[in-house]
Amino acid sequence: PVLVVDFGAQYAQLIARRVREAQVYSEVVPHTAAVDELLAKNPSAIILSGGPSSVYEEGAPAMDPALVEAGVPVFGICYGFQLLAQALGGTVEATGAREYGRTEVKVTGDGGVLHEELPTRHPAWMSHGDSVTKAPEGAVVTATSEGAPVAGFENTERRIAGVQYHPEVGHSPHGQEVLRRFLHEIAGIRPQWTTASIVEDQIAAISAQVGAGRAICGLSGGVDSAVAATLVQRAIGDRLTCVFVDHGLLRSGERTQVERDFVAATGVNLVTVDARERFLDALAGVTDPEQKRKIIGREFIRVFEQAERDLKAQGDYRFLVQGTLYPDVVESGGGAGTSNIKSHHNVGGLPEDLAFELVEPLRLLFKDEVRRVGLELGLPETIVHRQPFPGPGLGIRIIGEVTADRLATLRAADAIAREELTAAGMDRDIWQCPVVLLADVRSVGVQGDGRTYGHPVVLRPVSSEDAMTADWTRLPYEVLERISTRITNEVAEVNRVVLDVTSKPPGTIEWE
Ligand code: XMP
Repeated sequence: PVLVVDFGAQYAQLIARRVREAQVYSEVVPHTAAVDELLAKNPSAIILSGGPSSVYEEGAPAMDPALVEAGVPVFGICYGFQLLAQALGGTVEATGAREYGRTEVKVTGDGGVLHEELPTRHPAWMSHGDSVTKAPEGAVVTATSEGAPVAGFENTERRIAGVQYHPEVGHSPHGQEVLRRFLHEIAGIRPQWTTASIVEDQIAAISAQVGAGRAICGLSGGVDSAVAATLVQRAIGDRLTCVFVDHGLLRSGERTQVERDFVAATGVNLVTVDARERFLDALAGVTDPEQKRKIIGREFIRVFEQAERDLKAQGDYRFLVQGTLYPDVVESGGGAGTSNIKSHHNVGGLPEDLAFELVEPLRLLFKDEVRRVGLELGLPETIVHRQPFPGPGLGIRIIGEVTADRLATLRAADAIAREELTAAGMDRDIWQCPVVLLADVRSVGVQGDGRTYGHPVVLRPVSSEDAMTADWTRLPYEVLERISTRITNEVAEVNRVVLDVTSKPPGTIEWE
């Protein structure tokens, strides 16, 4: 693999994704990992990420010089670029010429391998206080900028290179090309990480792990569990049984999507558990968001465990399939405590006392790779490109007590919003658009000749890369108008539609 050494910026995972877009497999490793550990992974190249520190700061994360002596190709980015320059005998200084944001980079000489034939002046994203003022001996300077005398250098013989700017972000339009050239041309790595190869490798790995055994997979309706289940089904056929829990907090059409569309596409064994009443009973009288989440999580696990016990009674189900993704793996290994803002409940969450062996066919994959695998496996677009939907479902989109009537109201309003967004071709522009029912708020309206006293719903369209931060989406007024007119005409209990124009932070995407 190509190892991306994480120096503490949020960019390491993005770099890993970009490397994979160049069809080269990559993994993120913490900067605290010892050189021996890194070399034990037999890396085809090492990329040093950016980071928030200054190389002079006391306690700034350092790089073991042994890393550049090991003969493995190395690429440095931003902070990693400065560490690399320093380790090879170049000079890094605080020149006072800081650069933040969009900056013009000038290609010098013939541009070397990295910058060859790129526009002589092109934009790139910078974020640095210190600068490399002298490149290490033997390295050719191929780019410069106003604040960075050395904005890129390379030593093709030693297969070492780097750039001061961030090639991994969208604001550096030639960044991907520069990364690709490092990987393919300087490091000499062959591009072999393709969707077809991922599918083939994963199916082989699952077959090897499960052998003649049987597996259970919880389906949520979302893309991750669907793709994980399909891969496993390809490997072990009808020795896989999928379990889908209908907790009554689903949106319109979701159960059909799983029971009909998913089964039609895969031919998988499916058991649906209808637990609608049980969840409604458990949620009766509850208005506190955290309490709702805890109850839904708890009931979900109980129902799922019962389904597992029932299946185990019928056969030797030893394996449990989970749709864990690579970012979760990186983050849980990352150590540093992130604060628990909301207790996230993941469908199929592993009950601690149940003896299962885990099968996690998506452990190495980013979300975009999961979607491509899903398409490769022939899953319908409606599943592959489904927007995120929280495990606790509509339960956390009713502000107030969750009741059957309120769920029906919200489900109807939500279906209209989704229909109109799809019809307007907005699905790929938005990350998701929760519709929230303010069930404890009433407002006066007028309809026909009568006064109404109904409830408002909130539209919460957001744009985001990863749900960690988000901005409210500027939906066209015509689309908003159609949604509002239809909801207030077609959903009797709703007489007002309002728009949430809060970014995240400070607002979260969901209201509860
Ligand atoms: P927030 O509201 O925290 O949401 O900004 C971020 C993203 O996570 C989704 N979300 C959840 N997903 N279980 C999930 O599987 C949960 O409990 C949960 N809560 C929020 C939310 O829809 C958004 O995409």
